[in-house]
Amino acid sequence: GAAVEVDIAGLPPGGMLTVEWRGKPVWVVRRTPEMLQSLQGLEAQLADPASAKDQQPDYARNTHRSIQPEVFVAIGICTHLGCSPTAVAPGAPQSGLGAGWPGGFFCPCHGSTFDNAGRVYRNKPAPTNLEVPPHRFLSATRLLIG
Ligand code: FES
Repeated sequence: GAAVEVDIAGLPPGGMLTVEWRGKPVWVVRRTPEMLQSLQGLEAQLADPASAKDQQPDYARNTHRSIQPEVFVAIGICTHLGCSPTAVAPGAPQSGLGAGWPGGFFCPCHGSTFDNAGRVYRNKPAPTNLEVPPHRFLSATRLLIG
């Protein structure tokens, strides 16, 4: 399918937009410093903290799983059975992780929980981290997905 161009100039810190690419929802999130900080120290709780599995291009194989730390791009489809996870705020009860939940994404179908880089928590049904699609920056405010 054709690549999709996304204008992120109006995306505020903490904001998220969804575009369609190859019939799939692709999220673009502008992470705040707090969201980036939340990625630290989770290693013991995550199934694949270093993203060793091929769920992202090489340029996104890092802790923040992105080219620029602030701008996170991921396919918004749960790697378990394909439901749509939703973004959940820190401390939200949905995650099952209680007050220690630093925020991220939650799949309502069978309870998989992902951090703010789409890394799946251990002992959840989803086997792998959310997929990061191929993408690049055309300029500071324009992304090309695909
Ligand atoms: Fe997401 Fe099963 S489809 S947890």
